Amino acid sequence: MSDINQFLEEAAWLVNAELDRLIPAEGRPPQQLRDAIRWSLFAGGKRLRPALMLAAGRAFGVADEKVMRTAAAVEMIHTYSLIHDDLPSMDDDDLRRGRETCHRKYGEATAILAGDALQALAFQTIAEDAHNSPETKMRLISGLGQAAACMVVGQQLDLEAEGRELTIEEIENIHINKTGALIAFSTEAGAIIAEAEASEFEGLSRFGEKIGLLFQVMDDLLDVTQSTADLGKTAGKDAASEKATYPSSLGLEGTRDFASQVYEHAIASLMEVKADTSLLMQIARFLLERKA
Ligand code: IPE
Ligand code: IPE
Ligand code: MG
Ligand code: MG
Ligand code: MG
Repeated sequence: MSDINQFLEEAAWLVNAELDRLIPAEGRPPQQLRDAIRWSLFAGGKRLRPALMLAAGRAFGVADEKVMRTAAAVEMIHTYSLIHDDLPSMDDDDLRRGRETCHRKYGEATAILAGDALQALAFQTIAEDAHNSPETKMRLISGLGQAAACMVVGQQLDLEAEGRELTIEEIENIHINKTGALIAFSTEAGAIIAEAEASEFEGLSRFGEKIGLLFQVMDDLLDVTQSTADLGKTAGKDAASEKATYPSSLGLEGTRDFASQVYEHAIASLMEVKADTSLLMQIARFLLERKA
């Protein structure tokens, strides 16, 4: 197995263990809500955001344990965003992470509440982190709150854009908000926990913004080029819903070229960073080349 795949597997294992401790299979009722949360949370997501956070932390020599709670928190926000994204009133999807969507399995009301609960628990999880100072936790909570709000803005813009033809700048704005912000936060958090100097933080932040955009550009591309079985979610959904995407605007080749450019910009933003960013660079490459 390549180094990067081994790292991603390790990161997934670590965050899964943390999430399982934070939201165990049995506990305070109602059990149906707990089951619904765990149905979506433990369905085998890539755990990319926690992996980025761990990689950014390790770049500055931070111990994993100082990162794990915030890594679990960002995965909670991400999973909440997926549960709500799949609702009939939004993208109306039946399949997520290779299994039935939360609302298909548990009903719409419980799915909405599962998302709500995950969002609240994410902030509580950071607030109660014993490994970081109150100042650090305040910065993390503020950053995650801003990113989660950007995600909501992006989702609204995404829905408003259905059936309309957008400029490339408008599409970029949607993507930066709906997906980029949470990914950028994931890299920034490593620098926040490390109490890195401002120039280092800026470099990681710019890198995070670029790979956040790259991630959604590739998500759009894979929706066209890959199968439902490979993706674990319904392929071809963007065209069917008349979504504003990069392939719909630039075509497949144009989108691949654009993704390569964004990747180059991401790598360039790490050049000034003094920390060891080799793992982050490998993750960026993985994002450019991923097939699911
Ligand atoms: C899917 O995200 C939703 C987008 C933001 C495009 P991921 O592709 O990271 O989903 P999982 O976590 O691996 O299921
Ligand atoms: C969703 O974008 C971004 C989120 C904030 C969840 P998509 O709607 O393209 O994500 P998928 O393709 O359903 O995973
Ligand atoms: Mg969507
Ligand atoms: Mg969707
Ligand atoms: Mg998509």
